[in-house]
Amino acid sequence: MPPRDPNTEQIIDFVVNKRNGIKGLVSTGVESVPELYILPVEERLGPNKISTNDSIPVIDVSDWDDPRVTESICEAAGKWGFFQIINHGVPLEVLDAVKEAAHRFFGLPNEERGKYWAGNSPTDTVALKTSFVPQAETVFEWKDYLSFRCSPRDLESFPLWPPVCRDEVVKYLESAKPVIRKLLEVLLKGLKVKEIDKAKEYTLMASPILNLMYYPRCPNPDLTAGVRPHSDISTITILLQDENGGLYVRATDEDSWIHVPPVKGALVINMGDILQIMSNDRYKSIEHRVVANGSKDRVSEPIFVNPGADATFGPLPEVLESGEQPLYKEVAFSDYFKYFFSKKHDGKKTMDFARV
Ligand code: OGA
Ligand code: NI
Repeated sequence: MPPRDPNTEQIIDFVVNKRNGIKGLVSTGVESVPELYILPVEERLGPNKISTNDSIPVIDVSDWDDPRVTESICEAAGKWGFFQIINHGVPLEVLDAVKEAAHRFFGLPNEERGKYWAGNSPTDTVALKTSFVPQAETVFEWKDYLSFRCSPRDLESFPLWPPVCRDEVVKYLESAKPVIRKLLEVLLKGLKVKEIDKAKEYTLMASPILNLMYYPRCPNPDLTAGVRPHSDISTITILLQDENGGLYVRATDEDSWIHVPPVKGALVINMGDILQIMSNDRYKSIEHRVVANGSKDRVSEPIFVNPGADATFGPLPEVLESGEQPLYKEVAFSDYFKYFFSKKHDGKKTMDFARV
């Protein structure tokens, strides 16, 4: 290993301990990528690793009852783990407003933003973070994010949320809820589950987390990761990305990555580990990664649809009905969550936690 850049400790102190984030560092005018953010060569996303043959489906969901729509959703969930939806009913103004809200929050002076830093925030339902798990990472991710816990109980702390973005966050969440429910109904029907009763609702969607992700302009995005390859631990994730692009999904051939092009008004949907586990591998929680932009600040707004705090999950009885062996055991969501956040983003390794 080459010796560490003597500035690295200072950078960690400025970005993490002093709560300035990568946004604060970029605002000082850095013109080259600090060593702390440089990926080993083999982990970079070179042009030779980008697939140009494949693309993930864009599905028009204006009629959820059309069997062609439900079939396309279940098929995409099994093949790609990712798809985009259009005509979903979340108004364009709501989507535009939450993107603007993200820019507004990250445009605040460092000290104003820093008031919401994880561990120091006026409420534990909102937390500003940088990279992913800095204590567990030798190479940092080029991103900051403001994370909102959004169970009905969490929403009671709304008055303590940042005034520059809280209305837009709640509006986006509430507008997305019917879409989330529809998607889960369709996906669960595809697993022979007839209805989402109260117990299933708790396991599938009781405690969403909504993030405002911020990837400031990066002087050399090819050297860095906005987010390293990982799969989400959610049941499903709903993601709004901006017009800059930069999200890549692992192709089915495993060696290359497919770009998810920005589509105006679309939401990107992906399967998370929990639905892969519940479906006993019928649906795939596919790895994805983000590359920051060389000229613009990129924002995205994922909603991680997560189980309630006390939920446990495992392969559904409906999918094991015909005698199929379960590939996973029943695990507590709180344990799975803790395990995910105890290590760097590392592909699909979290799933080993639940494997039989
Ligand atoms: C994530 C993620 C993608 C994006 O936060 O898990 O994959 O486009 N984000 O920001
Ligand atoms: Ni993700």
